[in-house]
Amino acid sequence: MSSKLVVGNWKMHGAAQANQALLSALVAAVPDRVDVAVCVPYPYLAQAHGLLSGSPIALGAQNVSEYAQGAYTGEVGAAMLRDFDCRYVIVGHSERRTLCGESDATVARKAAAVLHAGMVPVVCIGETLAQREAGQVESVLNQQLDALASVLGADQLGALVVAYEPVWAIGTGRSATARQVQEALGLVRGWLRERVRNADAVRILYGGSVKAATAGELFSLPDADGGLIGGASLVAAEFLAICEAARDASQSGLIRE
Ligand code: PGA
Repeated sequence: MSSKLVVGNWKMHGAAQANQALLSALVAAVPDRVDVAVCVPYPYLAQAHGLLSGSPIALGAQNVSEYAQGAYTGEVGAAMLRDFDCRYVIVGHSERRTLCGESDATVARKAAAVLHAGMVPVVCIGETLAQREAGQVESVLNQQLDALASVLGADQLGALVVAYEPVWAIGTGRSATARQVQEALGLVRGWLRERVRNADAVRILYGGSVKAATAGELFSLPDADGGLIGGASLVAAEFLAICEAARDASQSGLIRE
């Protein structure tokens, strides 16, 4: 069974000195048999690239332009991220969908730009609390996924990482329950199986208030291939403990249904 993936999403946090301490602590103690990445703010890509080089921790970014280059002041293109050896790029995080008005179609085009540049998009999807309470989880996830399929071919869909992040669980300290998470991950897996040959090899992550204390249970769910970690990725000991939980969950060798 393939190893789990743990992706840290620093969001708009960080400072040169603190980054050095955090990344050095991660490099010194990252466990093996788990894939780990950190997605840092753009200005720290060079610093993080230097500190992570030669380590097993991959570098990632939190956003990208849908355009390759041109007169887009303030934007950053996928090839620029590639120049810093980024392996992952988060696209469609709910904060960008909500705060920056990114539509499903924009998110799909950004995912295409990331793939075109040879990196792996970590595409975030998830419902709001109102949508969950209205019984719309499945339709919301399908709509967000279908938008990807209208831009990406089957092989490209098979190259994504999909992160299920219920909006109400992000940064709230209120993680979804194991049952809610598996239900949603199972929907995503089912959607992939209808379209992608290697659907079981596509990594589906859970994100939303994951802590070391909850990571083991969440990552052991049948369709969980790891996590996207916000707040807890800023504290070395906590993030490392989450990485260890992911490693231990891969070894438990659960078979997908
Ligand atoms: P959180 O954030 O772990 O702080 O809830 C997750 C995310 O936004 O990716």
